[in-house]
Amino acid sequence: MIPFTMHGSHILSTGSAVPEICINNDLLSTVLDTSDKWISTRTGIKERKIIAENQSIIDLANIAANKALHKGLLQPTDLDLILFSTSTPHDLFGSASKLQYSLGATNAAAFDITSACSGFVIALIVAHQFIQTGIYNNILIIGADTLSQWVDWSDRTTCILFGDGAGAAILQKKQQNDILAFEINTDGSESQQLSINYKYPTKTNSKPNINKQFIAKSSQQYEYLTMNGKEVYKFAVSKVPYSITNCLHTTSLKAKDITWLLLHQANQRILETVANKLQIPMDKVLSNIEFYGNTSAASIPIALDEAFSTGHICNQDVIAIAGFGAGLTWASILIQWSTIEQ
Ligand code: ACO
Repeated sequence: MIPFTMHGSHILSTGSAVPEICINNDLLSTVLDTSDKWISTRTGIKERKIIAENQSIIDLANIAANKALHKGLLQPTDLDLILFSTSTPHDLFGSASKLQYSLGATNAAAFDITSACSGFVIALIVAHQFIQTGIYNNILIIGADTLSQWVDWSDRTTCILFGDGAGAAILQKKQQNDILAFEINTDGSESQQLSINYKYPTKTNSKPNINKQFIAKSSQQYEYLTMNGKEVYKFAVSKVPYSITNCLHTTSLKAKDITWLLLHQANQRILETVANKLQIPMDKVLSNIEFYGNTSAASIPIALDEAFSTGHICNQDVIAIAGFGAGLTWASILIQWSTIEQ
């Protein structure tokens, strides 16, 4: 019998990319009945970056991935697996294989994970399983979304919140394990609180006609993003502190041992309320929502990349990360950052 050994996961490197087009609150206020004051007071958002018409989510993901590969001193052919977390794919059959091709990552298997704003954390946890069991050595995890293409730009209650972007991390098999604890949760009974629904054909009174039905079915679309903001807010501030506390309980760590709290960047008030419930001071909370808005699956890896690149995150720091959003889903992971060669 072959002996079974568990391996450690190490975050080797990160990368990120956002589009160049910047829409600030003042600009939005010229086309919508809103104001910089309303948006920034209620959400903390001042501007968001929006993808250009000739740009795709694959372009953004490619830039983020190449930065992570470069920093990790890896070639695309060193990758064994690509996990592409997005809810706004370039192709409903998946974006991961297109990214694999554009990177030239010819040795990597690749597939998508759809889990909205929890997607990056869930993909990180999935990647950790493949590393722990020794199946793969180098896994690229992408969190990318372009919700600007899915929101109704005349709906001031939703469009002001979102921006586009991509973040990447490379998880590598090592002896030492950086991932201390994790959990994933789902409550499908509340999925209607935040969704982009399939648009069913409108019923007509005409006689059923098989050709017409096929024509109708072949041109399906999706509704715009809809959200019950108050319910999503309540969900986030109640579930996320509990989930992080659960993760802490499986280790010997306490909330005071957390060096950085990195939450999905949905709303500054959510970040403050969750931090307050965990009794974590705001100077330990990573936030860049002011510049990007809610970039869904991209928000956590973009913030992680920025915090690491600017020297905020240091060796041995404990980072509590939580994603939450449509599904409803929420997922937490505790990481002890290591920058030294093991
Ligand atoms: N500008 C000006 N006024 C506005 C705007 C706007 N952009 N949007 C709404 N209003 C008005 C409303 O019409 C309402 O007016 P009324 O009182 O005359 O009816 C008033 O402002 C208050 O609206 P509320 O919806 O009650 O505002 P609230 O304080 O709840 O803030 C917000 C709304 C910011 C959306 C908040 O509920 C929130 O952040 N919720 C969480 C959302 C979230 O995090 N979603 C992402 C999840 S991640 C994912 O999976 C994609």
